[in-house]
Amino acid sequence: EQSKQISQILSEFRLTTEQLLEVKNRMRVEIQNGLSKSTHESATVKMLPTFVQSTPNGTEHGDFLALDLGGTNFRVLLVKIRSGKKRSVEMHNKIYAIPLEVMQGTGEEKCTQTTTSTGQEHAKSVNTSMQKAEIFKRIRTKQKKDFCFTCSQLFDHIVHCISDFLDYMGMKNARLPLGFTFSFPCKQTSLDAGTLVTWTKGFKATDCEGEDVVGLLRDAIKRREEFELDVVAIVNDTVGTMMTCAYEEPTCEVGLIAGTGSNACYMEEMRNVEMVDGDDGQMCVNMEWGAFGDNGCLDDMRTEYDRAVDDLSLNPGKQRYEKMCSGMYLGEIVRNILIDMTKKGFLFRGQISETLKTRGIFETKFLSQIESDRLALLQVRSILQHLGLDSTCDDSIIVKEVCGIVSRRAAQLCGAGMAAVVEKIRENRGVDHLKITVGVDGTLYKLHPHFSLIMHQTVNELAPKCSVNFLLSEDGSGKGAALITAVGCRLRQELN
Ligand code: BG6
Ligand code: GLC
Repeated sequence: EQSKQISQILSEFRLTTEQLLEVKNRMRVEIQNGLSKSTHESATVKMLPTFVQSTPNGTEHGDFLALDLGGTNFRVLLVKIRSGKKRSVEMHNKIYAIPLEVMQGTGEEKCTQTTTSTGQEHAKSVNTSMQKAEIFKRIRTKQKKDFCFTCSQLFDHIVHCISDFLDYMGMKNARLPLGFTFSFPCKQTSLDAGTLVTWTKGFKATDCEGEDVVGLLRDAIKRREEFELDVVAIVNDTVGTMMTCAYEEPTCEVGLIAGTGSNACYMEEMRNVEMVDGDDGQMCVNMEWGAFGDNGCLDDMRTEYDRAVDDLSLNPGKQRYEKMCSGMYLGEIVRNILIDMTKKGFLFRGQISETLKTRGIFETKFLSQIESDRLALLQVRSILQHLGLDSTCDDSIIVKEVCGIVSRRAAQLCGAGMAAVVEKIRENRGVDHLKITVGVDGTLYKLHPHFSLIMHQTVNELAPKCSVNFLLSEDGSGKGAALITAVGCRLRQELN
């Protein structure tokens, strides 16, 4: 009887092929709405022009600085690109922490003193679940007006990290060109100008939305009066990832991130990018597909657990597709299901512990461990124990099943979105069969034992006229940002 009820709860997460085809078709409609002038303004999938008009051709050359903000880690990188016969890319990078109170504008007690820090060690310690839980508790109990970390403080912190990096590399006087991977929706009017549409994922520093991000960075560099940089390009992580992969594999014309957030970009025909003048050639479009469903078009597939996760998030009602398929939210969906099952007496002897009430306990890496086929149930129990959840053997079987069902749905939904993209490209080209490569990055794709395979299978099933090759980005998106910066510098010289 109990197992029947459990399977009843989970049945809503099992999507049929018909439902997935429906997701693909609805994504196609939203893609069209985002691209067309007449519907763009109200479209949920924004299809933002990036002003990147070609993939790398090997002639890119020079030394560049890159910033990578918005994924698990904030990095500053030095990228040395050499063209010609000895084509090569050399990279140096350092990871920095963005303290949560700076990221989310919740540092009420520390208003005048922004905690800054350097190095990987600290990055790890700031990211512990305990600290996250503490911050989330604060967010829940505080009113918005109490937020006092502003956007300029976030950018001051970023510039502080750049300063540390330049010292570390001994390059303070170089006035390097810089490419800024900024993994949030930006309305660009050129390669080096973009206003933040809205924060997504875990960011919420105040006064930033509607501002030109490049301007904010330039102002912060000026405020510091320590070094000069030439900010040449602002780049979404999907675009950086596509470019990184395209440098090695020219058939790569799509970028995908399955990480903290979820998003894709691809090379669209200029004639279809109605928001930008001109009909010749191509332009990379940052889809911002995480917002798919924000007009309610996926509501028939959302469960009460999806709604609970959304309600308690930093951006309720927004990024509904992302909240069903990316790393930042999957663990939260699992936790909400476990709470419900515990209330119903199916788990943890009916006792809801403080740990289970804590947001953010199931990070992607724990879900990945729990679902690993190599783990015996005893080991699953010990992971749960480590998280502070006392489980019986039966409990651990159920928890593993819940994780599996939630991540399978995520991979299938992501695959359905990707099927819509490759089908669109196939139709653009007017071919019966399309061979294409997708450059991919993100912790969910890289760490989870089944996500990538299920996603690939779904794309194959839903887009049978396309042969899609997935290429994992080994270098992150900083390299891609540097390649775009190189092209930006060349174009600028040609214009002058
Ligand atoms: C990294 C890229 O490798 O992947 C980042 O360099 C990107 O730009 C990130 O944001 C996405 O993954 P995650 O899981 O860290 O959000
Ligand atoms: C979020 C951001 C998007 C980014 C994605 C992956 O969806 O809005 O810009 O590409 O996360 O990091």
